[in-house]
Amino acid sequence: MKNTVITLLIFFSAFHISAKEGMWIPLLLEKYNFSEMQQMGFKLSPQDIYDANHSSMKDAVVIFGRGCTGELISNEGLLITNHHCGFGQIQSHSSVEHDYLTNGFWAMDKSEELANKGLTVSFLEYMEDVTEKIMEGTDALEGEAKANKIKGNTDKVNSDASENGKYKTAVKPLFYGNQYFLYVYKVYKDIRLVGAPPSAIGKFGGDTDNWMWPRHTGDFSIFRIYADKNNEPAEYSEDNVPFQPKKFFPVSMKGVQEGDFTMVFGNPGSTTQYWPHQAVDITMNQRNPDRIALRDKKLEIIGADMDADPKVRIQYAAKYAGISNSWKKWQGESKGLKRLNAVNTKLEFEKEFKNWAEQNGSWESTYKPVFENFESQYANYAKYIKASDYYSEVVFRGVEVFRNARLINTIINNIENKQNEKVESLRSAALGGLSAFFKDYQQSTDEKLFAALLPMLVDGLSPEFLPEELVEMVNKSDGEKLLDKVFRKSILTDEMKLRKVLESGSEKQLLKLRKDPVVALFNQLNFKYEADISSVVAKVSDEITEGMKVYMAGLMEMKKGQSFYPDANLTLRVAYGKVEAYEPKDGVEYKYYTTLSGIMEKDNPAIYDYDVPERLKELYTAKDFGRYEVNGDVPVCFSASNHTTGGNSGSPVVNGNGELIGVNFDRCWEGTMSDIMFDPERCRNISLDIRYALFLIDKFAGAGYLLDEMEIVY
Ligand code: ARG
Ligand code: GLU
Repeated sequence: MKNTVITLLIFFSAFHISAKEGMWIPLLLEKYNFSEMQQMGFKLSPQDIYDANHSSMKDAVVIFGRGCTGELISNEGLLITNHHCGFGQIQSHSSVEHDYLTNGFWAMDKSEELANKGLTVSFLEYMEDVTEKIMEGTDALEGEAKANKIKGNTDKVNSDASENGKYKTAVKPLFYGNQYFLYVYKVYKDIRLVGAPPSAIGKFGGDTDNWMWPRHTGDFSIFRIYADKNNEPAEYSEDNVPFQPKKFFPVSMKGVQEGDFTMVFGNPGSTTQYWPHQAVDITMNQRNPDRIALRDKKLEIIGADMDADPKVRIQYAAKYAGISNSWKKWQGESKGLKRLNAVNTKLEFEKEFKNWAEQNGSWESTYKPVFENFESQYANYAKYIKASDYYSEVVFRGVEVFRNARLINTIINNIENKQNEKVESLRSAALGGLSAFFKDYQQSTDEKLFAALLPMLVDGLSPEFLPEELVEMVNKSDGEKLLDKVFRKSILTDEMKLRKVLESGSEKQLLKLRKDPVVALFNQLNFKYEADISSVVAKVSDEITEGMKVYMAGLMEMKKGQSFYPDANLTLRVAYGKVEAYEPKDGVEYKYYTTLSGIMEKDNPAIYDYDVPERLKELYTAKDFGRYEVNGDVPVCFSASNHTTGGNSGSPVVNGNGELIGVNFDRCWEGTMSDIMFDPERCRNISLDIRYALFLIDKFAGAGYLLDEMEIVY
C-alpha cells in the first residue's frame, strides 16, 4: 500500500497535469479541455476560440516577426505586442538625435507611422492533423528510405497547401513524430510602427527586473498592418490601406481579481516536458553553467562600454538585452530544477514507466533498448554539445566581426566551387546587410570581445575541438598581441573597404581575402565546427529523437484517456489558468498585481532603466489618472498561472468573456524551469494590465485617438 502511494506521488510530480499546466492545441479544446475551462470560468464556446470556417479569436492572433505574438485590437489593423518584441524596430528608427528608445514614439495620425523593412505578421488560416498523409506508404520502410518517404510526403502536403505560394505552410511533428500537424499562414508585410513608450516605461526595470515579479514594466508597443486594396498582403506601398481583420479583441476596462479565469492565446516557441533524466541533467549541470559563464564575460564587456558612451548604449541596446535575457533565464531554470530535484524526479518516473512496461510485456522488446541507448547517446551528446555551445557563444554569436568573416568565407567557397550565380546573390545580400551591421558596430567593443572570448574557447574545450594554430597562438600571445596579429590586420572592420570589394572587387580580389587573418581564423574554426562538432550533434540528436518517439508513444499509451499536450513548437496554443499570486520563498508572499505607486518607489534618475519620465511623474503627482484610476492608483501588471514560454511574448490575455485584459510578457524567475518541469506552486506568467497601456496611450502620450478605434468594454 505504502508503495503505491509513493508511486502515485512520484508519477504526479513528474507528469501531473494541474489545472494550469499545458499548452493546448486550439483544434482539440472541445475534446480535452473545454469542460475544465468552463468550470474555471470560461463563458464562450470552443468555436469562439478556434474555427477554421468562421471568424474566431484565432483570426485576431498573429506571429509577430520571427518569434513573438501580437493581437489585433481594432478593425483598422491596429495591433498590440510587447515593447521588447518591437524593440529592434524602435531601435532601428532611433539615433542620438531621434532617440525613440529613450523618448518613445507616437504617430499622431496615420501619415506619421513608420514602415519597417523585413517585419511580417502571420495569420493562421487553419491547422490540420496530417499524420496519415505524412506516414502514407512508410509502414514497410526503415531508416533512410523511411525518412525520405516522410520528406517526400511532407513536401507534397506543403506544396498542396501553399496554393502556389499564396500561403506560407509548415508541417511540424508533435510528440516527437508520433503525430504531424500542418499550419497554413497568410503573411502580411507592410507593418508600421504606431507607438512605443520610452524605454524607461516599456523596458522599465531593464535587465535588473527582467524575469522577476513584482514587476512594473509597461512592455507594449503598437503597430498597424497594411494591405492592398483587396485586403491582401502586399509589400510596403504608400497606396496600401489599413488591414481589416476578420476579428479583433474587445479591450476590457473591467480589470482583474484574484482567481479570475485567464487564457493566454499565443505562439509558445519550444519546451521539453518529456525529456528523460539525462537531458535534464546535461541542461542544468553543464549547458546552463557553460553558457552563463561565457555570457557573464560578454555582458561585462558590452555593459561597461554602454555605460561609458550614449552612442554605444543605443548601438548595443538590443544585443545586450538579447544576451542577458537567456543568461538570466538559465540561472532561474537551473535553480528551479534543483529545487524540484528534477533529475531524481525523472529517474523515479522512468522506474515507474519501466514497471508499467514490464507488466504489459513490452519492456524487453520495445523500451529497454531505447533506455540503454539513451545512456551512451547522451554521454556522447554531452561531450559534443559542450563544444557546440562554446562555438555558438564565442564564434557565431560572440565576436561580431566573425559575422562578416562568415559572409566572405561563404562567398569564397562558392567562387572556388564555380557557383557563379550564388556568388552574385551572396554578394548583394552581404552588401545589403552592411550598413545595418556597421550602424550598430563599435570596433573597440568587439576587440575586447575578441581578446577575452578566444582564450575562453581554448581553455574551455579539449584540443580535439580546436584548430591547432589557434591553440598555439592563444598559448603564446596575450589578448593584446592577438589583437595586433589578427584582428587589427583585417579589413572586415572597415565598412568602406568591405563595401568596395563586395561591390566591384574581382573574383581574384575576393579570393585574396582568404589570407585576411580574421577570415582565415574563422575558416579554420568553422571547418572544425562543421566537420567534428555540428555534424555529430545532429547525428546524435536524430538518434535521440528516434528513441524519444518510441518512449513518447509508450507514455501516451500508459496514460491513455488522459489529456496530453505536445511540446511547444511556435504554433498557436491555448494556456488557461487564473489570476494568481505566489510565494517565491519561505516566509514571503507576493500580491497578484502592481501599481503606478510602485514605479514611483523604484524611480532613480541615476539609472537609465529606472529614470521615470517627467510626464509620468506629473500625472502621478496630480493624480491625473482619469478613468484608469483604481483605489487612488493605476494598475500596472498582474501575475497569473498560465503555462507560457518564449514566443508567448505579446500574447493576448483574455478573461472568461474573451475580452482583452492584458498582454503577456514574461514569467517569474522562480518558475522559469516550466519549459522542462512545471510547478503549480511557483510557475507564473507576468502580464501588462491592459488598463495601464490605455492610460499611457491616452494620458501620457496624448494619442487618445487610437482608443477611438478600439472597442472598449466596461
Ligand atoms: N524575459 C522576457 C522574454 O523572455 C523579456 C525580455 C526582454 N527584456 C529585457 N529586459 N531583456 O522575452
Ligand atoms: N519574454 C518572453 C518572450 O519573448 C516571454 C516570457 C517567457 O519566456 O515566458 O516570449
